[in-house]
Amino acid sequence: MKKLYIKTYGCQMNEYDSDKMADVLRACDGMEQTDKIEDADVILFNTCSIREKAEEKVFSDLGRVRPLKAAKPGLIIGVGGCVASQEGNVIIQRAPYVDVVFGPQTLHRLPELIKARRDSGRAQVDISFPEIEKFDHLPAPQTTASSAFVSIMEGCSKYCTFCVVPYTRGEEVSRPIADVLKDIGELTRQGVQEVTLIGQNVNAYAGASDDEDTVDFAYLLQAINELPEIKRIRYSTSHPRDMSQRLIDVYGNTPKLVSHLHLPVQSGSDRVLAAMKRGHTVLEYKSIIRRVRALRPDICVTSDFIVGFPGETEADFEATLKLIEDIGFDNSFSYLYSPRPGTPAAEMFDDTPQEVKVSRLHRLQEKLSSLEDAVGQSMLGSVQHVLVEGISKKDMLEMAGRTDNNRVINFRGSPGMIGRFVDVTVTQVVRHTLRGELIIT
Ligand code: SAM
Ligand code: F3S
Repeated sequence: MKKLYIKTYGCQMNEYDSDKMADVLRACDGMEQTDKIEDADVILFNTCSIREKAEEKVFSDLGRVRPLKAAKPGLIIGVGGCVASQEGNVIIQRAPYVDVVFGPQTLHRLPELIKARRDSGRAQVDISFPEIEKFDHLPAPQTTASSAFVSIMEGCSKYCTFCVVPYTRGEEVSRPIADVLKDIGELTRQGVQEVTLIGQNVNAYAGASDDEDTVDFAYLLQAINELPEIKRIRYSTSHPRDMSQRLIDVYGNTPKLVSHLHLPVQSGSDRVLAAMKRGHTVLEYKSIIRRVRALRPDICVTSDFIVGFPGETEADFEATLKLIEDIGFDNSFSYLYSPRPGTPAAEMFDDTPQEVKVSRLHRLQEKLSSLEDAVGQSMLGSVQHVLVEGISKKDMLEMAGRTDNNRVINFRGSPGMIGRFVDVTVTQVVRHTLRGELIIT
């Protein structure tokens, strides 16, 4: 059996895409995945270009696999994902030992691209955007886990001034609702009880329905809520602009939807939000959270922040700290702004010294981490409904699971619980994770 090695960079969309690459190559060419790169017949790098560091890493990693090719002439090296989408042929020019280059929308064509490379002896590049064709060519999803990702839409049409995603993944395209529900049906037959709906902006979902109409994200969530086998629904990522009142209302009437909302805000300054072209103000963001909390008082809100956007002043930055305090965000992501070629922000005047930006990032992370501790402390003594995911990484006698608000919790239990929901009392908070005691029913 031929062996496939995949290295994934970046976000959960890429993790999902890597699984799909493995699925197509297993279905078409009977390939099996390995975690030993030296054993591989095909090596794929599923790349990320959201920040400069991630992009540079790919080229240094590519340099490292070059000697493997000399030792095994039939070895195929492929580059997929966002760097591939942005650079295309340039990758072959920079690294002529690369055999195939494909984008996020053409990964289903991998078997043909590899065959064409072998038949013609020439490198193959396909970074086109054939709309949603990909999903029609992917094998049915397969899993042994009780929780699974389901892609419901692709791409982004928001064009925030700092971001490459609309250029690398194309504009927003939603999968028809029947296709999404069919995938979820397949997964539930394999034992899945929790789904995470993924896409760059899942709440921009506008999927075709059978009667030629389109349905929105609120409708999709309610349809999934009706499936008896599904016990818990998560989604990521969403955009404040698409947080419609219909979607907010879902928090009041869809109990399977978790009490965790990841809603990227990026900055707490209206001036910076406008320069980023986010399409909303700080007040509008706060109003969304206020309305969601009115329906779900216990909801944990997490976010993404960019520090050091061109022209960000100390006052702008302090406004972000204030927003963090006002909302009381839980466990969030924060990044130093990274100029991306071809995006409008990369051309903006930026006179903030790098050390000032780094120090702001540290201040912001300190604030986030103190709030995260506070959220953890507030869970002490509470009973959490936990989906058991596996044996704890640190202690063989403990199980690890995830609470409704997305915290990892470790507790004494048995491997027979994996894949089941149990109730656990929170007894201790250790930085990012919780410890608890199983409630025996
Ligand atoms: N759909 C999401 C939203 O509503 O903003 C964004 C998804 S983006 C792939 C993930 C995160 O990467 C963004 O929220 C942003 O914080 C960060 N990001 C994107 N471009 C960046 C850049 N040029 N520099 C630093 N961080 C960036
Ligand atoms: Fe990027 Fe903004 Fe879309 S951050 S993914 S352009 S919402």
